[in-house]
Amino acid sequence: MDGALHCRRASVPEGPIDIAVLASGSGTNLQAMIDNPAVRPHISLVLSDRSGALALDRAGAAGIPSQVVAWSDHADRDSFSVAVADNVEASGAKGVILAGFMRVLAPSFLDRFPDRVLNIHPSLLPAFPGAHAVEQALAHGVKVTGVTVHFVDEQVDDGPIVAQIAVRVLADDTVESLHARIQVEEHVLYPAVAEAFIEGRLMVEGRDVVWR
Ligand code: GRF
Repeated sequence: MDGALHCRRASVPEGPIDIAVLASGSGTNLQAMIDNPAVRPHISLVLSDRSGALALDRAGAAGIPSQVVAWSDHADRDSFSVAVADNVEASGAKGVILAGFMRVLAPSFLDRFPDRVLNIHPSLLPAFPGAHAVEQALAHGVKVTGVTVHFVDEQVDDGPIVAQIAVRVLADDTVESLHARIQVEEHVLYPAVAEAFIEGRLMVEGRDVVWR
């Protein structure tokens, strides 16, 4: 049997899709996407759970529509996730890029965007999932850590891995210095993955992601 039949296409085949970028903080990964001419025209929305997020200012400066969906305005994770999904859909986006988005979305969100949600994480997954990856890598004494872009599934920092870059840990590294070098790699890797995602060139095949 043709192996390709087992692939799930992670994007539409007919042409490029638009994406929504979800960010809670400074939005340097968002900025890297804004600065990529193949990605920028396909960002239909920047959405944050925090009204003060610098990412919103970056969207405004680039002329990209932005939206706040505040966690505190919702009774639970499900209703928050429905509100986020409604805004993403209303923008016309067919894919979602999490870029420092500090809320875990409900499974119902993933049902609305199957194989269409990407995340970036500052470690070589499956090592050091969770919110303190850089601190934990340093505390563990690893000599190499890095960055992972992966599709999102129902577990935190768990889904099929799209791409990774290794970053050497230096003897005198602090959390800040190591995270800064990881971010340099993030800003190269994430726009490149986003471009392939937008163009429908990423296929999910079980745990594997195939680039076309
Ligand atoms: C990045 O380090 C990313 O790996 C993690 O959150 C951080 C977001 O940084 N998920 P920024 O807001 O894009 O600067």
